[in-house]
Amino acid sequence: MKTAGGSADAKRRAGEQAAQEVEDGFVVGLGTGSTTAYAIEAIGDAVADGLEVRGIPTSFQSRQLALEVGIPLTTLDAVETVDLAIDGADLVVDDPGSPAHGTLIKGGGAAHAREKLVDAAADRFVVVADPSKLADRLERSVPLEVLPAAHSVVADRVRDLSGDPSLRAAEHKDGPVVTDNGNLVLDCEFGPIDDPEELASTLSSVPGVVEHGLFVDLADATYVGTEDGLEVRA
Ligand code: 5RP
Repeated sequence: MKTAGGSADAKRRAGEQAAQEVEDGFVVGLGTGSTTAYAIEAIGDAVADGLEVRGIPTSFQSRQLALEVGIPLTTLDAVETVDLAIDGADLVVDDPGSPAHGTLIKGGGAAHAREKLVDAAADRFVVVADPSKLADRLERSVPLEVLPAAHSVVADRVRDLSGDPSLRAAEHKDGPVVTDNGNLVLDCEFGPIDDPEELASTLSSVPGVVEHGLFVDLADATYVGTEDGLEVRA
């Protein structure tokens, strides 16, 4: 799961630093992806040293890693509070002068539906990223998790919105990517997105869309690991 894009050291710094925010007794949302994996491993180390936490995984992948490193797991419906969520992103708008500052695009790992559920439920949501994720404008394809029966009608609707959808294909076998929820993913190019809130609400209203990868006004801070340190963006 240690991946592509950005250096492993930068990702490790971001993930490990975010894990420092976890306190005894916390319920922690465990995001998905190679950067969050470093946070999960660090939380596992802290659990081995006696920290008591419960994790809520956002994907099969993060569940497996959490079990491997010994983090006790729970579910959203079994807790009253999620104290902290730690999650990665594919793009973070980093321009304090822009109305889209702090908006994220997620879903590179096709896990954004559960990620949004858990990240939005948390009292505090910390994004972990390397500098390759930072951008001064919101321009990247937006993943839509869609019901399998809806993929062609949703694709038509995206075209009506001047978007260019493509069904995400599985990398190592024939056929499409299937999410943990049994759905498909349409990656939709919209060019530069000037009003993320409006697009987010339009996409949410399309029948057959389970969730989109625009995360507007959800993140509280972004930990950006660099080659030799760490920067925190609020
Ligand atoms: C999964 C995600 C990931 O958080 C995002 O793709 C970032 O992953 P990585 O840390 O591996 O770059 O949104 O759906």
